[in-house]
Amino acid sequence: MSPQVLIDCQVATMIPQPENPLGMIRDAAIVWQGEQLHWVGRRCDLPPQWTNAQLHEAAGAWVTPGLIDCHTHLVWGGSRSQEFRLRLNGASYEEIARAGGGIISTVRATRAASDSELQEAALKRLDSLLAEGVTTVEIKSGYGLEAETEAKCLRVARNLAKVREVSICTTFLGAHALAPEFVNQPDAYIDTVLSMLSELYNEGLVDAVDVFCERIGFSLAQTERVFKAARNLNLPIKLHAEQLSDSHGAALAARYGALSCDHLEWLNEESARAMSQAGTVAVLLPGAYYFLRETRVPPVDLLRAQGIPIALSTDCNPGSSPCNSLLLMLSMGCTLFRLTPEEALTGVTRHAARALGCIDRGILQTGARSDLALWDIDHPSDLCYVFGQHTCRGTLYGGAWRATSTLKV
Ligand code: NIG
Ligand code: FE
Repeated sequence: MSPQVLIDCQVATMIPQPENPLGMIRDAAIVWQGEQLHWVGRRCDLPPQWTNAQLHEAAGAWVTPGLIDCHTHLVWGGSRSQEFRLRLNGASYEEIARAGGGIISTVRATRAASDSELQEAALKRLDSLLAEGVTTVEIKSGYGLEAETEAKCLRVARNLAKVREVSICTTFLGAHALAPEFVNQPDAYIDTVLSMLSELYNEGLVDAVDVFCERIGFSLAQTERVFKAARNLNLPIKLHAEQLSDSHGAALAARYGALSCDHLEWLNEESARAMSQAGTVAVLLPGAYYFLRETRVPPVDLLRAQGIPIALSTDCNPGSSPCNSLLLMLSMGCTLFRLTPEEALTGVTRHAARALGCIDRGILQTGARSDLALWDIDHPSDLCYVFGQHTCRGTLYGGAWRATSTLKV
């Protein structure tokens, strides 16, 4: 593959510099060969060795790293629109879950769905993300709660990367809810989770492990059992933590060196300190906050004070965030959570990469993956300012223009 150069573009490298937190370069050039970036800088500094490389003109587009959606539950069957109605009439998310609805109703529908039904539904969601310049997506299991369906969902998730140009990271979330076969026996269910984990890991289906630690999820002790098993397999961990109450899950996850703790509306100061020391990323999910009509905002000032990297994600799922737009999360992150546009953009690039343990993406520099999104905007912060607008002009995935979104110039 010969070297390629993109010119007539402006770049947000996402490598912060003093007075330039997005690492912006005007009138830039980007050189890549295959899946790797070779050079990013001002066009006037382009080394002569690249001046004869194959040229692509971007007609003034802004370029960012391909966006990263680092927390989704993209593969599920059925719909929860009926539950939405119940909530609009006053029922709470927790009440519905306790009455056997919520996650468990999606589990029933997902168990009943075929591989191809699940794939078709997931592809529609994925295609919306891809049209917005997303190039890496994390997908959790957790709507099977038994070995066969957990495997089915993870295989469908993995397969998406074969039918679309996207990187998929899979996370095993067997401890998402108590399987209906184990009512009143959560510890026995965790035994099953552990055996599912080793089976799915042996099949090569698991990149990371997650737990829903909550009063309607799993206790600290149960969460820790899953973390120990993940550690024995050398798998990174993540946690749904302090979404509905302060369950002290974030501090536990930090002790296990978690890549990320996600949601965090109820995060306390001590747990934040633990996350900071462990280098754990805080993944904020404004879609779930919005859709569940929460009123408690994650403690953004505390995260800043502790120097905790903040990421943003859709949490795409049928119950708390049926949303396929990462760009909308940029707007919501700023408007609902008071993030700055720079923080929000870093949250869907550099910090989202870190939440997945992917060190080769989320920034534009020599050696990084050649995943680029091109935008029809005047300034990167426009990605946070406008909402509901299609501003992605094209995407380069692993060094090739993505078929679903060819350059419109
Ligand atoms: O991240 N909180 C747990 N899991 C999902 C919701 C899953 C569902 O309701 O189906 C979340 O919000
Ligand atoms: Fe989630």
